[in-house]
Amino acid sequence: MKIAVVFGTRPEIIKLAELINLLNGKKGVETLLMHTGQHYSYNLSQQFLEELKLPKINVNLEIGSGTHEHQIGEGRRKIGKFLRDERVDLVLAEGDTNSVAAAALAARDTGTKFAHVEAGLRSFDMQMPEERNRILADDIADFNFAPTETAVQNLKNSNAREESIYLTGNTIVEVTKRNLEIAQEKAKILKNLNLERRDYVFVSAHRTEVVDRKEQLECLLEGLQRIPLLSVWPMHPRTRKNLEEFGLMEKAGEMENLKIIEPVGYLDCLMLCSNSKFIVTDSGGIQEEATIYKKPVLITRKNTERPEILGTFGTLVGWDAEKIGNESRKLLENYDEVMERVKNEKCPFGNGTASAKIAEILAGGGK
Ligand code: UD1
Ligand code: UDP
Repeated sequence: MKIAVVFGTRPEIIKLAELINLLNGKKGVETLLMHTGQHYSYNLSQQFLEELKLPKINVNLEIGSGTHEHQIGEGRRKIGKFLRDERVDLVLAEGDTNSVAAAALAARDTGTKFAHVEAGLRSFDMQMPEERNRILADDIADFNFAPTETAVQNLKNSNAREESIYLTGNTIVEVTKRNLEIAQEKAKILKNLNLERRDYVFVSAHRTEVVDRKEQLECLLEGLQRIPLLSVWPMHPRTRKNLEEFGLMEKAGEMENLKIIEPVGYLDCLMLCSNSKFIVTDSGGIQEEATIYKKPVLITRKNTERPEILGTFGTLVGWDAEKIGNESRKLLENYDEVMERVKNEKCPFGNGTASAKIAEILAGGGK
């Protein structure tokens, strides 16, 4: 069986790393790796392929940045051609990016089977491109690998085919566990940045609905200003570009408790997050990882497709400066108590066997 694994961005590379290696070891399975090129900067792409020791990419479609139409349309056309030329049996993609939508559509166009990893997430906010992409992918998929029971229910309430649904857990669990151990041995980032454990807050934000508007980005900066600790922010290029365009870079540069750095590699990111006091983020992957190294997260969004962590690890704060300030203060005032509680919370994303289950199901041909 020829499986084309399609990915295009940082979180997809990370979440697929273990699964790709497992599929490669399956008898009778040939795995072809297709990078759409949606992410192309070294520190958003190649660095992760190297750190996570992925096999050589078979093809890079070099889609690059641009409109949703460009990324999905060009991706669909180029992936479709590859599927036809290579006579691929099954396409597999993970998550909700434009690369995933392109892969799902190309699979449908060419009559190739499609497997969707991390299926069934819903924010119920169709303004989000990710929500539109994930609904499309779930509807098309022959295999929907849901990370949680909530995701299974969402799939059952949608147009996804009943026989496509499998509850597997999220592949991020095994990837995080494995790399956390390596990071603890190898990563030097705390020393390099002169940071002490639990002396800083880890920040990241890149979601279009959060960082593409000047007033919101300004509110987020004001929120960080109210946190009585240093914020360390490895900045996504979308956010950096917006800060520059909105004329907010100077304001950010003048904030004494804010350290903006370039995006970091996976080991460094795990090290920075797991040693922080707490996390402020809109990142889906980082929210999931926090349930493994057990950190409280302030989620800078109005809604979430990961409700499993609300009330335990995560609190929605939007980009409301006052709320960010108040929730941070509350957290810091009750820190030992909060950490004791969080330490005992169970990870809602499975036990680290999702990649193995998915590889097994695919190699066995499904239900
Ligand atoms: C994309 C996904 C988002 C995911 C995120 C992971 C969609 C709709 N969005 O958002 O769901 O959470 O990836 O990080 O698919 N840029 C670079 N170098 C790169 C790539 C991008 O500098 O390698 C800059 C460009 O200015 C580009 C901007 O970042 O315009 C946004 O990139 P894009 O791929 O469109 O979306 P992300 O914000 O990365
Ligand atoms: N990440 C990283 N370096 C960074 C920021 C994030 O390695 O500078 C990792 C993080 O640990 C997580 C993933 O990238 O595994 C999340 O990606 P991102 O936030 O870009 O996308 P999302 O998960 O929101 O789709």
